[in-house]
Amino acid sequence: MREMTTDTVTTYLLTNRAFVAPTIGEAMRTLDLGGRRRLLDAGTGAGGGLVALAHAADPDARVLGVDQNADALELAAAYAEREGVADRVETRQADLLDVLAEAARSGAGFDAIWASDVIWPGNFPDPEAAVAALVGALNPGGVLALFSSGYYQATFLPGHSRVQQKLRVASQMNWGIPGDGPTHNERLVHWVLAAGLRGPRVRLMPRAVFPLEDDPTARPYLERVVWPELLDAAREQGREAGMSEEELARAVTLMTPGSDGYALNEPGYHLLHPMLLVTGTLD
Ligand SMILES: C[S@@+](CC[C@H](N)C(=O)[O-])C[C@H]1O[C@@H](n2cnc3c(N)ncnc32)[C@H](O)[C@@H]1O
Repeated sequence: MREMTTDTVTTYLLTNRAFVAPTIGEAMRTLDLGGRRRLLDAGTGAGGGLVALAHAADPDARVLGVDQNADALELAAAYAEREGVADRVETRQADLLDVLAEAARSGAGFDAIWASDVIWPGNFPDPEAAVAALVGALNPGGVLALFSSGYYQATFLPGHSRVQQKLRVASQMNWGIPGDGPTHNERLVHWVLAAGLRGPRVRLMPRAVFPLEDDPTARPYLERVVWPELLDAAREQGREAGMSEEELARAVTLMTPGSDGYALNEPGYHLLHPMLLVTGTLD
């Protein structure tokens, strides 16, 4: 399974944070955060959700950002400082499941929990149980928000769909994600329903970028995060995912800046990224 170096994780967290920020802000506005005092950003990474929660919540609300990765928490704390919300947030290095169990045991639960790109089989062998643990840490009336940036639904290579589909399969194999079944990463809604939350909602928040220069975060996201990830997947799992030698070579050309057939130099190049917000409330 794919392992990431500290540098790769940092690049991913910062570049991805910038790219998803507008959609996260929009998602926060759909949550009813007024009057909610204790908020949790579960698996905060570089703190994109942490800071957005602090901005969207009442000024006297407090937001806890939990992550097991100390380097990520440093990025999150620096971001909170830079965005002027450091006095309203706290970061804690811990296993999320321990924090949730402690909240459930002590009765000091959360009025809202945000989890973005965290609940998936790469992080939790039993994601449905992880969602149940998130729900177990909610106070009565508390809201759970599961956000997915929709990496595996995105169109990164418009006009090259066969190569893109095989790259997606190669990437999922590279991360050890099953092709289907109860732990599949597309089951956020299934897990929220299984946890018995009231009023489950699914919101699609699509991003379409064209021309690419319209969104200055898009090119760095593609060149620093997406292309390296997909090229690694092609190398490691491309043949198993059914890519021919010609398709492997074309994938390299399409995703190599400066190459003759570089995808971003195609006049019609556009990026489609359907992001997903799944919410529910505890009775
Ligand atoms: C894909 S990143 C998403 C970060 C951030 N929520 C975002 O949307 O940009 C997943 C994060 O979850 C953290 N994480 C994964 N499993 C965890 C666990 N069991 N306890 C705490 N943090 C965890 C990772 O360290 C990583 O920072």
